[in-house]
Amino acid sequence: MAKAVRKDEPIEALLQEGRKFPPPKAFTKSARVRSMALYQEARRNPVRFWEREAKELAWIKPWTRALEWKLPYAKWFIGGQLNASANCLDRHVQGPRRMKAALIWEGEPGDSRVLTYWELYREVSRFAAALRKGGVKKGDIVTIYMPMIPEVVVAILACARIGAPHSVVFAGFSPESLRDRINDAKSRVLITADGGYRRGGVVALKLNADEAIKECPSVQTVIVARRTKQDVPWTTGRDVWWEDFIRDAPARCAPERMDAEDMLYLLYTSGSTGKPKGIVHTTGGYLTGVTTTMKYIFDLREDDTFWCTADIGWVTGHSYVVYGPLSNGASVVMYEGTPDWPDKDRFWRIIEKYGVTILYTAPTAIRTFVRWGEQYPKGCDLSSLRLLGTVGEPINPEAWVWYWKVIGGGRCPVVDTWWQTETGHILITPLPGVTVCKPGSATLPFPGIEPEVVNQKGEPAQAGYLVLRKPWPGMLRGIYGDPERYTQTYWSQVPGVYFTGDGAKRDKDGYFWLLGRIDDVMNVSGHRVSTMEVESALVEHPTVAEAAVIGKTHEIKGQAIAAFVTLKHGHTMTPELQNQIKAHVAHKIGALARPDDVIYAAELPKTRSGKIMRRLLRDIAEGRALGETSTLADPTVVATLKKAYEE
Ligand code: WTA
Repeated sequence: MAKAVRKDEPIEALLQEGRKFPPPKAFTKSARVRSMALYQEARRNPVRFWEREAKELAWIKPWTRALEWKLPYAKWFIGGQLNASANCLDRHVQGPRRMKAALIWEGEPGDSRVLTYWELYREVSRFAAALRKGGVKKGDIVTIYMPMIPEVVVAILACARIGAPHSVVFAGFSPESLRDRINDAKSRVLITADGGYRRGGVVALKLNADEAIKECPSVQTVIVARRTKQDVPWTTGRDVWWEDFIRDAPARCAPERMDAEDMLYLLYTSGSTGKPKGIVHTTGGYLTGVTTTMKYIFDLREDDTFWCTADIGWVTGHSYVVYGPLSNGASVVMYEGTPDWPDKDRFWRIIEKYGVTILYTAPTAIRTFVRWGEQYPKGCDLSSLRLLGTVGEPINPEAWVWYWKVIGGGRCPVVDTWWQTETGHILITPLPGVTVCKPGSATLPFPGIEPEVVNQKGEPAQAGYLVLRKPWPGMLRGIYGDPERYTQTYWSQVPGVYFTGDGAKRDKDGYFWLLGRIDDVMNVSGHRVSTMEVESALVEHPTVAEAAVIGKTHEIKGQAIAAFVTLKHGHTMTPELQNQIKAHVAHKIGALARPDDVIYAAELPKTRSGKIMRRLLRDIAEGRALGETSTLADPTVVATLKKAYEE
C-alpha cells in the first residue's frame, strides 16, 4: 500500500507509479459518506436503494412500481407524478431556503446577479405562465439557444414547469447545426438572446438564429432575451423581446403534473454517423439520479457554494448546473465567459469573490491552467475550496496531481467522474470521504451501478469495452424519433448490453481506467464530435473530393481534429486553401469542430472493399509505426501520405 500523501511534497514525487491518494482525514471527518455502508446497501438491492433516494423528492403522486425493464427500455417509478421545476424551486421556497442564493451569476464584463430561491421561483413562474399563455403545451419541444445568463436557467425550468421538453443547443453551434436540431424536434418556439459576451467580444446569437430558422418551417415565435443590447435583425409578428413576452404574465404558474416517464428534455449529441442523436431524458428517474449523485459525490452541505464550469449546452450543464444543485437546494455559481478574460486568473478570482467551496471542471481546462502557470491561482485566495471534480475525458495523472496540489492545496479530494449524455448522471466516481483515489482512474461505480469491462463477445475482460447490463434511473429512454438507431447504437454491439462506446480496463483493485472512445467519436476539449459529421462538412467544400477525419492526441484539448482530404481535379493544396477548409468546417458545425490540421492526400488509404482505414491515418498523425497494411488496396498510398504528413 502506498503511503498517504503530504501537502508539502513536490509534484515529481507524487507522480511515482501507483501513488494513491486517500481522502484527507479532515474531509472524511465531516463527510456525508464516511463508510462503505452505502455501497453495501445498494449492492443488496439497487432498486430499493434508488427508491429510498427517490422518496426524498417531492412527488405529487407516489409510484406503484419502481422499475420495469424490458430490454432495451427501462421505466422507473411507474405511476408516480412529479414536476422537476417544483422540485428545484417550490419545495425550497416553502422552507428556510426561501431567501438563500440559488443562482450566483457572473457576467464576463464583470457584472453580477444573485437570485434567491424566491426570486428564481418568481421569474420561472412568470416566464412559464407567459409560455402557457403563448400556447405552449405539455409535450411541445421548445428549443433554447442562449448564452450563459440567468435567463437560460429560467427558460429551462419554465419549460419543465409546464411540461414542455426543452432542447438546449450549445450557443457555439453554427446556424446549420441549430437548424437541424430545431427541425428534428419540430419546435414552434425558439428562445434566444441578442448576443452574449465571450473573450471580450460579442457573439451574434440572434443573427445566427435568424439564419437557422430561414429553413425551419415549424418556428412561429422567437423570444429574445436582451444581454448585449447590440442591434439585431427583427421579424415583426414572430420575434418578441423577453420583457415584452412576460409583461402581463402572473408571477404564479401551477406546475404541470408530470408522469415519472414523461419527457423532461431532449439533448442532441454526436454519434458515429453525421446526424446528431436527440437523447431523450424523462422526469422521475433522471431527477432521482442527478439529485442523488449530486448530494453524495459532491458531499453537498447546506452552506456550500458549488461551481460547475460547464456550458448549459452540454449535459453537464443540465445535470450539474441546473437540476442536480437546484433540486438539492444548493447555491450554484454560473459564469458567462472564458477563463482568460480579462486575464488568465478569472476562474480563481471568481472562486475568491464568491467563496466557492466545490469546483467541477474539465481536464482540458486544467491542462490549460497548468500551461498558464501557478502564478495565476497563487495570486488568489482559494482557501474556501474543499472539494474538486473533473468530467468530460480521461485526466492525465500529471494534471490530476496539479489540480489536487495547486488548486486544492492538498486538502481537497478530487473526484474524477465518468458519465455520458446518455447516462444522465455520474456513474463511475470516487465518493470523496471514502475512496482512495488513483490519479487517472475514475475509480469505482457509484452505489447501485454495475458497469463491466468485456471483450467483443461480451465476456468479462481485463481490458475492453465498458458496458452496463442493468438499468439505472437516469439512463436515456431512447433517441428521439429513431428507435432503430437506439437499439443499433447502444444494445447491439454486445447483444442485450448497454454499450458506452468507451474502452476501459480494470486493475487488481477493481478500479476503472477509461481509455477513450472506440467508435468514430472524437473527444475535443471534452466535447463529443463525430468524425462523420466533420467529414460531411469537409466534402461540402467545393474543392474537396474525399475526406477522412481522425482525432489525434493533443496536449491541451485531449484530442485535436486532423482531416485528410483529397482534392477535386484542378485544385492544389495551399496554406490559404487549408485555412479556407478549416473555416468552412467551423462555419458548418461550430468553432469546436475546426480541424487543427488539413492534410492533403493524393489518395486515402482504403481496403479492397473501399473502406477508409482510419487506424492507419491515426498511426500517421501520431507519428507511430504503421500497423498492418496488407489489407490495403494500394499499399504505397500510406507511405506517400506519411511522407506528406511529415513535411
Ligand atoms: C468521456 C459528458 C474519461 C467518455 C458528461 C464518454 C470521460 C464521453 C469522463 C461522454 C471521465 C466523460 N473519464 N472519459 N471522467 N467523463 N468522458 O456525452 O468518452 O459529452 O463516453 O458527456 O466523454 O461525453 P458527453
